[in-house]
Amino acid sequence: YWKQQIPQGLKELPGPVGYPLIGSMLEVGKNPHLSLTEMSKRYGDVMKVYIGRTPVLVLSGLETIKEALIRQGGDFMGRPDLYSMRHIGDGESMAFSPDSGEVWLARRKLVQSALRNFASAPSPDSSSSSLLEEHVSEEVERLSAKLQQVMRERQRFEPFRYLVVSVANVISAICFGKRYGHEDQGLLSIVNESERFDEFASSGNPVDFIPLLQRLRSRSMKQFKEFNQQFLVFLQNIVKQHYESFSKDNIRDITYSLIDLSQEKDKNTKIRVPTGKIVNLVNDIFGAGFDTVTTALSWSLTYLVVYPEIQKKIQEEIDENIGSERKPRLSDRSLLPYTEAFIQEVFRHSSFLPFTIPHCTTRDTVLNGYYIPKDMCVFVNQWQVNRDESLWKDPSAFRPERFLTANGKELNKDACEKVLVFGLGKRRCVGETIARGEVFLFLTSLLQELRFAVEGGVKVDMTPRYGLTMKLKRCEHFQVTRRSPKRPAE
Ligand code: HEM
Repeated sequence: YWKQQIPQGLKELPGPVGYPLIGSMLEVGKNPHLSLTEMSKRYGDVMKVYIGRTPVLVLSGLETIKEALIRQGGDFMGRPDLYSMRHIGDGESMAFSPDSGEVWLARRKLVQSALRNFASAPSPDSSSSSLLEEHVSEEVERLSAKLQQVMRERQRFEPFRYLVVSVANVISAICFGKRYGHEDQGLLSIVNESERFDEFASSGNPVDFIPLLQRLRSRSMKQFKEFNQQFLVFLQNIVKQHYESFSKDNIRDITYSLIDLSQEKDKNTKIRVPTGKIVNLVNDIFGAGFDTVTTALSWSLTYLVVYPEIQKKIQEEIDENIGSERKPRLSDRSLLPYTEAFIQEVFRHSSFLPFTIPHCTTRDTVLNGYYIPKDMCVFVNQWQVNRDESLWKDPSAFRPERFLTANGKELNKDACEKVLVFGLGKRRCVGETIARGEVFLFLTSLLQELRFAVEGGVKVDMTPRYGLTMKLKRCEHFQVTRRSPKRPAE
């Protein structure tokens, strides 16, 4: 291994030495969130682990991560040039490509303002207060009908398959003003293949660190490339139709809005996002928007059937504060602290995004007294923070109450802020507000009407499959029954 020159007064990064050529790849293994959390107990919050011959900086501990991503945000905001990421959106993704300069910033701002305009914007339809509410409520109505139909026909179902279409329809409505049926093959062939993406694009995939593996062209690599290509073509067709029908006076969705905004220069950076690159931004929003939220909802439904008493408490809270006469709204969030605490506990306990997208250092820097060179790949271990015994009492227990104040009536803001799922700082998720709103609206709308369970005698396997987002093994044994909620208390 090369030895780095460490400037005087600074410490060398600690970590396992590893074997020649493969480094610590075997110890990191198939569940890096677990193995790297274990290793951090030995080497600390700032450690260096060789994957192949590449040294990777692994950050743990909430305070250390805040120091790096917030207070020293500029030093840690880069993205590494990894093999897998070069295949996402033809290497032009705002989220995954190595660019973190002015062009990235201009594109990120464009995405943020497009999301603000089309998700949080008030709905022209007076029955809902925001477009997001309108889209979710329409999708839940169809989803609920579909699940009840499947129950009549087959008495059980696998939830991911249905959730993913509903969630994809919400982001699709926002992005392109379009929705698809539950049997639409064009959409299904993409959204049902997202596991291939998640596994390949995960932090620590040996392909990214051992060049020889890149030449072997494994089946999973072939499938990953095909998935990305198919996804891009699907979006290119939609974006093309938008170009053809574009009119400045009729901006109805994010794609039109991006086309419109891309024609103006950003006031501060004077950078214009070329119109040909719009499809890559749509790719980022649609890709990040359907898979993460669907995963969050599948985990939520699974916890609800594993802990039926928690499901009952959420339904009582909905009955008391919303009733059955009207649909849940985003403004109800403050009325349903237990439901909010449940969602927060799902994020913490599942930590289904165990590492953020990999970062890299943009210059030589120092963290906690350790010298860190420029261009070093950085893994941010969110899973470790969410299971850290020094932050959480009995971290492996699933207890929504840990997010409530002592009287149980309000959310405990301090506890909520310790959960790490959306990253922090300059690369923090741009869809967080939408994602949180969407998960809340989907869950409350579904639970207002339906009770979820698993077939008697079936034990749900809660072991996640490692990936960029971690998923549960699909379970075919879910069931729903219609509820007849009580009227709200007079
Ligand atoms: C980035 C989490 C939903 C758009 C990220 C990152 C995380 C994350 C951990 C990486 C942060 C980093 O690298 O430090 C989540 C979770 C979601 C969710 C847990 C749902 C529960 C969404 C949605 C959208 C979205 C709904 C869009 C509508 C993005 C984009 C980035 C990103 C564009 C890249 C930002 C950049 O590189 O500058 N998200 N996300 N996400 N997310 Fe999300």
